[in-house]
Amino acid sequence: MKSDARQGDLKIEWAREHMPVIGEIRKQFEKDKTLKGHTIGMALHVEAKTAVLVETLAAGGAKVAITGCNPLSTQDDVALALRKRGIQCYAKHGCSTEEYYRAIDAVLNYRPDVTIDDGADLIFRIHADRKELIPEIIGACEETTTGVHRLKAMHADGALKFPVIAVNDAKTKYLFDNRYGTGQSALDGIIRTTNLLIAGKNVVIAGYGWCGRGVAMRAKGHGANVIVTEVDSVKALEARMDGYRVMPMEESAKIGDIFLTTTGNIDIITKEHFKLMKSGAILANAGHFNVEINLNQLMEMATNIKEIRTNIDEYVLEGKKLYVLGKGRLVNLATGDGHPVEVMDMSFANQALCVKYIIEHGGALENGVYNVPQEIDELVARLKLKFMGVQIDEMSEEQKRYVSGWEHGT
Ligand code: ADE
Repeated sequence: MKSDARQGDLKIEWAREHMPVIGEIRKQFEKDKTLKGHTIGMALHVEAKTAVLVETLAAGGAKVAITGCNPLSTQDDVALALRKRGIQCYAKHGCSTEEYYRAIDAVLNYRPDVTIDDGADLIFRIHADRKELIPEIIGACEETTTGVHRLKAMHADGALKFPVIAVNDAKTKYLFDNRYGTGQSALDGIIRTTNLLIAGKNVVIAGYGWCGRGVAMRAKGHGANVIVTEVDSVKALEARMDGYRVMPMEESAKIGDIFLTTTGNIDIITKEHFKLMKSGAILANAGHFNVEINLNQLMEMATNIKEIRTNIDEYVLEGKKLYVLGKGRLVNLATGDGHPVEVMDMSFANQALCVKYIIEHGGALENGVYNVPQEIDELVARLKLKFMGVQIDEMSEEQKRYVSGWEHGT
């Protein structure tokens, strides 16, 4: 039997082997000690791919302190393996809300000058309760859509007190991580947790952003009848023309076998919908916070609740049974291993390069939310293609002149 730390080590080794882009960045960081003298505070999902990012930053000379960004996504063996290598890691699977914020504070006690968030809890804590840290912070990075929305709202209110790079919004992040990553990992979470067949089922996807598009595409590939719910008319139209049925949640509630929320908003599935659902319906969430399925209402309606299988709670109500996966927390990480490794290679390569960018340029940036510099996005794409052994064409000088000119017509 492997000890927990050994198991964590092996998970990290497996991830590292499949993350060549960040591996390349690590070589450069190690050689130049790019991050020497800096302290990086992180609140991310503590699992193997994240550990590869942590060791890359540490290889660049940074002091790193990390905690989780969700109470159920931490893999304790990976956390232990990180601690064994001298990384200050405070993440714990199944922590209470109080423990969660205590761990956030423990990271902040290292007085980071750069932070990396997935969901903006670290940044929010700094602005709410640890304002004394603000003058030392050069800047920050944010990993996910929900965090970027939160930060843009903070900035619009004039509340954001340092520059933040929206790593989520890099093309080499959201087009792959949000779409193919969530597409595969959310379905993987549902499949491995339930051991049920997707083919032939009505799979209802709430939200047709990049995550919703990804899971809809993959559920269709498994033979599901995919139904999309949306509030945005353009996205609804896109879903319809991508070949899915589109209808309000109230209609899909009556026919869905599996529900997956990907909206980033509250109260997507509520008591009105629970009442309409068929017995046996499965409910899961792939959004960052556990707010999309109203579990308080479901609990109030239930006459009995039991864990029928690991990560599946059975709610008995009104003569039927509804099943909730991973306590309504993001299903790909609460019940699975998160996104596929190759996808996180690109997301975390962006993170590492953006940390370097902040250190080099953060002092000159105003407070606000910034896009990932295009050079970084393009570098990540080029490296990924290189490691995949894919070559592409190059424009001739004549073609460059043609596409940048305006004289040519019919
Ligand atoms: N693994 C580490 N961070 C992740 C994220 N934001 N989404 C999915 N898997 C992850």
